[in-house]
Amino acid sequence: MRLLTGKPGWSTSADVVVIGSGVAGLTTALNLRSHGLSVLLVTKARIDEGSTKWAQGGIAAALGPGDTPDQHKKDTLIAGAGLCDSRAVDVLVSEGPEAVRKLIAQGAVFDKSETGEIALTREGGHLRDRILHAGGDATGAEVSRALLTAVKNDRGIEIIEHALAIDALKSKSGRVCGVLLHVIGAGSRDGVGSALARAVVVATGGLGQVYSQTTNPAVSTGDGVALALRAGAKVADVEFIQFHPTVLWRDLANRGQQPLISESVRGEGAILLNHKNEQFMIGKHPQADLAPRDVVAKEIFNQMQESGQPYVWLDALKVKDFQIRFPTIYDSCMANGIDPTIEKIPVAPASHYASGGVKVDLNGQSTIAGLYICGESACTGAHGANRLASNSLLEGLVFGARIAAALAKDLPAQEEPVYESKTTLLDPKIVLPLQIAMSEGAGVMRSESSLRKTLQTLNELSKLTSTEPRIESWEATNLHLLATAIVKSALTRKESRGSHWRSDYPLSSDSWLSRITGEIDNSGNWISDLEPVK
Ligand code: FAD
Ligand code: SIN
Repeated sequence: MRLLTGKPGWSTSADVVVIGSGVAGLTTALNLRSHGLSVLLVTKARIDEGSTKWAQGGIAAALGPGDTPDQHKKDTLIAGAGLCDSRAVDVLVSEGPEAVRKLIAQGAVFDKSETGEIALTREGGHLRDRILHAGGDATGAEVSRALLTAVKNDRGIEIIEHALAIDALKSKSGRVCGVLLHVIGAGSRDGVGSALARAVVVATGGLGQVYSQTTNPAVSTGDGVALALRAGAKVADVEFIQFHPTVLWRDLANRGQQPLISESVRGEGAILLNHKNEQFMIGKHPQADLAPRDVVAKEIFNQMQESGQPYVWLDALKVKDFQIRFPTIYDSCMANGIDPTIEKIPVAPASHYASGGVKVDLNGQSTIAGLYICGESACTGAHGANRLASNSLLEGLVFGARIAAALAKDLPAQEEPVYESKTTLLDPKIVLPLQIAMSEGAGVMRSESSLRKTLQTLNELSKLTSTEPRIESWEATNLHLLATAIVKSALTRKESRGSHWRSDYPLSSDSWLSRITGEIDNSGNWISDLEPVK
């Protein structure tokens, strides 16, 4: 099944097509090159767009004195609330330190302590200081800069910007053998075309734009996950949307990407206060303000319900040299009329990260031959029900290298694509009501009735079709598919666990220690299953 498009007007090819230019796509591309493979890197907007450049807190890796991958693993498993795949966590934490050293060798510069060692900070769920950071709170920008410099210097990587991947192309044998693209370009590569390859790596990032307030940029519409679903791949854990507890609260009228106030601000001493000036996290969790993200987001939600106010306070007055340590956050607060060195910051949870995604094995291979997934679009199982802070950049680094190594070992010959039937598109007008319905009914807290109401809205919105193939309608159709997958999985999981909080099933239940997977059939119907956690 694929989306309605115009007829492909051009064609190109490479050994591997990588879709997306965040940490996952760039790392995969560079590693494919080190194995001598040719790479076509396509990306939807400008090459530096995506969540990666916005990352603030840092990268978690057991690099500090006395720290071990095993301790990092323990914290990851606790945050994941019983649903992590321990093999994936082992890979992440044990290969993480080397992946970070490699990134440093590629030119990424991390902040140093007064003694000249790499400075490490702490974030929610970590029992020790383990987070490397750059430019204070501009870690993602530095990671992106270093990787982009290396990619641009490699002549074996061809880059096409403003190239939106619409659908996977499959051969008669069912193997993915390329991707259908829409390029806003000049010359021969303009409009819809096909990029053929011996394998395709989807690294299109998250799907925060499914919600009306998110930390994610506008490109995060989950296109790669939707593409994989239409290609027949399975997704897993999609009900586990992580809401970041401390997003700068401006106004409910503000939609789309909102400024993040990094968890590392709390790591450096900031505290959460309610409207009675009480430090409400004390007594709620042994790690108080630095409890795992889901715990803090839920408690903030409770406080907001109790006070009737749409935010709580983050008091960062005791953070040393705020402006120097957190220059990006300082600037975004000031731009919104708040000086964090003299006043409290209003914060509220907003959608931040998809802990689930396209189900892959330890080499990033999806359930469809030829289709690999890396980064936030993937569900490796490393995050379980709630990703541990700063494990995402790390996942892109570690699994990007593994995918490249696996492809270098086994890359079949190019196959010819067969063109499949096309689905209807949805009108871009559905996006705003979809986002509102998702935030209202499938947000930090959900219930059978809120989810059913959201599903009903989604069903109504599915009637607003469009016959005009264009970027906005492809994105709207993708958002709708993903919103439906999230709501249906959230309805299936009748318990609370990690970032899935059901008011009607407030407790976790051992009978739900399984992963919910999903796929769509040829008519687009959602088929769900349960898999044991490994
Ligand atoms: P992205 O970096 O989002 O890149 C996706 C790429 O795919 C982009 O280039 C995009 O343009 C492209 N793309 C999308 N759709 C298409 C399409 N249809 N066709 C072609 N290209 C497409 N994680 C941490 O570990 N530490 C942190 O400190 C941290 N802070 C964060 C702060 C913020 C504000 C945000 C939003 C996230 C943060 N995260 C952090 C999460 C982390 O940044 C992301 O999960 C990670 O960067 C995802 O990397 P990625 O390569 O998978 O996706
Ligand atoms: C943050 O800096 O709080 C975000 C870190 C993350 O998402 O891992």
